[in-house]
Amino acid sequence: MKKIIGRMEYEILEVIAEGGMGAVFKALMKGANGFEKVVAIKTLLNCYSKDKRFINRFIDEAKLVANLIHENIVQIYQLDRYMDEYYFVLEYVDGITLHDFLEFLRVAKTRLPVKLAVFIAMSVARALAYAHSRYGCDGRPLNIVHCDVCSHNILINTEGVVKLTDFGVARAVTVKERNSYSGKLPFMSPEQVKKQSLDFRSDIYSLGVVLFNMLSGGKPCRHLNVHPHEIILQAQQNYIDWELLPKDLDEELLAVLRCMLATDPDKRYPSTAKTMKKLEQYILRRGNVPTIVTLAKYMRHEMPALFEGKPEYRRNGGNGFSGGEEEILKTLKIPGNFDPESDPGRLSKTRPMNAEELLASGTQK
Ligand SMILES: Nc1ncnc2c1ncn2[C@@H]1O[C@H](COP(=O)(O)OP(=O)(O)O)[C@@H](O)[C@H]1O
Ligand SMILES: [Mg+2]
Repeated sequence: MKKIIGRMEYEILEVIAEGGMGAVFKALMKGANGFEKVVAIKTLLNCYSKDKRFINRFIDEAKLVANLIHENIVQIYQLDRYMDEYYFVLEYVDGITLHDFLEFLRVAKTRLPVKLAVFIAMSVARALAYAHSRYGCDGRPLNIVHCDVCSHNILINTEGVVKLTDFGVARAVTVKERNSYSGKLPFMSPEQVKKQSLDFRSDIYSLGVVLFNMLSGGKPCRHLNVHPHEIILQAQQNYIDWELLPKDLDEELLAVLRCMLATDPDKRYPSTAKTMKKLEQYILRRGNVPTIVTLAKYMRHEMPALFEGKPEYRRNGGNGFSGGEEEILKTLKIPGNFDPESDPGRLSKTRPMNAEELLASGTQK
């Protein structure tokens, strides 16, 4: 067999989000004899699909990232066209964006435990370290730069797996929006805001902003309630309000953050792998290393509605905790002085949020 020509059929199940560049749908990919797979479909708005220059760049970028296969990256299955409309078929992530998660915690007046924040940043660093170090078939580096690392593009599934998405999108958008800013301005490196040429170190900076956000209780590192010109100026000058971080944050983590957020790319870590290592070392030195199970458990406790109807996933001894579930619970500094020993039933007593609470917390669009 030399070639297979088939037709894929997708049944749209629900609209996940609409806006910006297009819409995101949850869909069923249908195959032979009742084969079905849940996928996400991301369409491009017509104004983008009709712009030839943009589409060419978009397809080039998509080709570059098509073969990124990593646990911490949302996989691209297909880029296709229906009539005049381009769309991506993506791995469906059953979970929540980091942005919505932080917003939820902010509303609930709860702060993400530092170790979990570092664990999330480390998972994204792992995805970036993989992407930044890819080579093409010709043996030359692909020089992939995400350009839009932000809390909206980080998804966490209900198993606690952190996944970076939208590789290639921001780079393509820069063609269309030459006079404005693609990507999310508050997360951009100074060199990106100045529209200078970018390399992987710009992504390290943006990940630093994401980590800052997680540690500051969802607050951005710059003042955003000012004129847009002022925001651009602050970003160009790399103004960071360090006072927004908790006073008791330890020096080792602050040093990592300062290095990631250095104005001069030469002063940042020399590789993404090194950045990942620094975050990893920070966690390892403190013992009781969190895993995806720890993160899933924390999310389940904080946002029971997200887990409604989903049985708890338990690993048998393979999660790095010698003491099992109780040790995992103890590792989590669950807000409200939650003590699993004195109140072992509290996790199961949590109730699902009602619709109003869900809307207020931003977990549902
Ligand atoms: N692969 C996916 N699986 C499930 N939901 C997704 C996926 N990709 C995106 N989403 C959802 O769609 C929303 C919009 O995504 P996107 O179009 O990338 O917009 P933006 O990054 O500008 O917020 C996200 O906030 C997320 O909730
Ligand atoms: Mg996105």
